[in-house]
Amino acid sequence: MKGIILAGGKGTRLYPCTISVSKQLLPIYDKPLIYYPLSVLLLANITDILIISTPRDIEGYRELLGDGSRIGVKIAYAVQDRPRGLADAFIIGADFIGDDSVCLVLGDNVFFGQYFSNILEQAKSQAESSGAAIFGYPVKNPKEFGVVEFDSGNKVISIEEKPARPKSDYAVPGLYFYNNDVVNIAKNVKPSARGEIEITAVNNVYLQRGQLHVTLMGRGMAWLDTGSPNGMYKASGFVKTIQEMQGFYISCIEEIAWRRKFITTEHLRKLGEELKMTEYGEYLLSLTEE
Ligand code: TTP
Repeated sequence: MKGIILAGGKGTRLYPCTISVSKQLLPIYDKPLIYYPLSVLLLANITDILIISTPRDIEGYRELLGDGSRIGVKIAYAVQDRPRGLADAFIIGADFIGDDSVCLVLGDNVFFGQYFSNILEQAKSQAESSGAAIFGYPVKNPKEFGVVEFDSGNKVISIEEKPARPKSDYAVPGLYFYNNDVVNIAKNVKPSARGEIEITAVNNVYLQRGQLHVTLMGRGMAWLDTGSPNGMYKASGFVKTIQEMQGFYISCIEEIAWRRKFITTEHLRKLGEELKMTEYGEYLLSLTEE
């Protein structure tokens, strides 16, 4: 399975911070925001990754992450010239995806919780064997998201994009797993009233085909919003608190790469040495003593 991180957008809710810098390069506490969705792909054992961003910002990501060899994976880059919608990722990424299945994660989504790796493995195999796997997460403000509607037997019957009257409190987070059909489905989606190629339209095609798995994430999972100043501040506080209490880092890409055996302990030590002026580097070095 291939992985795509969509890290473009305008980030208007974060102006003036994002007038000249991509949102996903800004820090959530001690690491750039894009480390969080990148960690999700690494946790899912996905090592062939495409980062999509704006013509202005793509070089910033390349400078940060290079070809991925630092963490033992392959990273390629592509440009989205304007924010045409989330499903545009599969059109821009068509050649990269080839005849493989694909996981899309939005560049500004932060996930944290126990058994997350198992949840990812399950979604991967659901998509590969029968079509598509997405998630539902309870939120207080469902109007701002794609929202899942259930019948009385808890079967999913529709997904609505930013409904005025949400039919449940379950929003669809920015993490989606699809088989290869997604490329053709995305190419055939008509832009919505707001002019975007909506991922919700793609999900509804899978739903109509009876091929959409929706797994509800419980309250043990954290899915954090980072799109506004308050969201970024709260997410940073969350990461700092957990890291200080547990002593384990959240979404440390070098650690995950090492635990997944994409890099050796020797290599991890080198990465730690490069950053040893920071607590982040000290943390990497401490792992090599485990
Ligand atoms: P949004 O939050 O919808 O948009 P944004 O990040 O530009 O923020 P704002 O609403 O403040 O202007 O996007 C969600 C994520 O998807 C975010 O990481 C940006 C990314 N994105 C793209 O890369 N391309 C797109 O066409 C769209 C719609 C979003």
